[in-house]
Amino acid sequence: MKTYDKSISRLQAAKQHLAGGVASSLRASMKPVPLYAESAKGARIRDVDGNEYIDYLLAYGPLILGHSHDGLNASVNQAMHSGYAFGLQHDGEIELANLLAQVLPCADKVSLSGSGTEAVMLALRLSRAFTGKTKIVRFHGHYHGWSDSIFTSFPSSGMSQQASEAEASRVPPGTFGQSANSLEDIILLPWNDPAALESLLRSRGDEIAAVITEPVMCNSGCIQPLPGYLELIRKLTEEQQIVMIMDEVITGFRLGLGGAHERFGILPDLVVIGKAMGGGIAISAVAGKAEIMQLVDDGKVSHLGTLNGNCISTAAAIATISHLAQDNGAVYGRMEELFNGFADGIRSLLGKHGIAGVVNQIGPVMHMMFIDAAEVNDFDTFNQRDSARYARFAELMLEEGVLLRPNGLWYISTAHHKRDIEETLDAMDRALARMRS
Ligand SMILES: Cc1ncc(COP(=O)(O)O)c(C=O)c1O
Repeated sequence: MKTYDKSISRLQAAKQHLAGGVASSLRASMKPVPLYAESAKGARIRDVDGNEYIDYLLAYGPLILGHSHDGLNASVNQAMHSGYAFGLQHDGEIELANLLAQVLPCADKVSLSGSGTEAVMLALRLSRAFTGKTKIVRFHGHYHGWSDSIFTSFPSSGMSQQASEAEASRVPPGTFGQSANSLEDIILLPWNDPAALESLLRSRGDEIAAVITEPVMCNSGCIQPLPGYLELIRKLTEEQQIVMIMDEVITGFRLGLGGAHERFGILPDLVVIGKAMGGGIAISAVAGKAEIMQLVDDGKVSHLGTLNGNCISTAAAIATISHLAQDNGAVYGRMEELFNGFADGIRSLLGKHGIAGVVNQIGPVMHMMFIDAAEVNDFDTFNQRDSARYARFAELMLEEGVLLRPNGLWYISTAHHKRDIEETLDAMDRALARMRS
């Protein structure tokens, strides 16, 4: 039986001066206690109590190369010796922008920021400036960061009622302290619902500046787009002169070097990337068509940030992307194969233990949930999962030496190998047996 005494006392100590005891609100939900990390390497992480885990949390997604990757360390170290940030321009920015333009199909030009939230803010601003319109269409169950302009209760619920136009203006704020007015330009729609999309865009296209979508609904069940759905968004947005923004903060550099838009063969107007782009060092970007990005060139749209494009973050992104690009992106095939087998292994274990569940997986990201349904392809069904049961399962997996995000979303990295997966399936076999009893 593992003990977490040191993490428990660290949390108490942290709470004295660190609001909430954690640095990002979501982290407080981990049971039995938000863990304190001591060190990590590759696919393994160790907490302050000396417990070791195979890590599928991966810092909520960025660690595509695993923890403390030697090549990334070397590049960041080298960059640090020339300076951290100059407030001047430097060659790393040019090199990174060129690299992004080379690997991302949608990228004529890019703008660099520090987090996914900031990059989404810029994408929305560019869309409004470009179209001269104000409304933004976003979807239930998607997440686009925590800025007041788009943060709604997460995962948002009440989809069917909200879908009606009369209700659409009443988008629920995501937190206390957020003015209800901040969301008055947001229209919430159910995702993967072609009729709802078509009806709204055809009737109100002249008010709508942008449609923003995750290409796969990673934040709520890792649900894939229905065949033709992303194509429909593309077609309708083009027809109505609406900017299509693909939020690839999770899928970028995870579903392939060119992200989901390359994988699905869709060319959005703007793409937002973050997380895996820097391999664990803070950096994000908006990449997009020249005629929209031109607004930044012209100085018509302000894009600001003291530490934008700092030397550490550009070095990390260049190293991460270059590593992923080696041998024509061969790591993606390996990760995909590993996780395909892993997802099948989990499904077999659920069957063996007679536990109803669904595993939605695409490449190196998946969502596992306990639910009495054959498949989960929409947000309403996703909301029927037993999340308390999953949180209990995640706790049992911790005891078995596997670190999971308590909401069911799993990531793997290039540092995960077959033996990690086998060890994890053995651990899961024991955890599911304990759950059943
Ligand atoms: C799809 C998506 N967009 C935007 C964000 C916000 O990114 P950040 O947490 O870096 O601000 C996230 C974060 O999880 C995300 O999943």
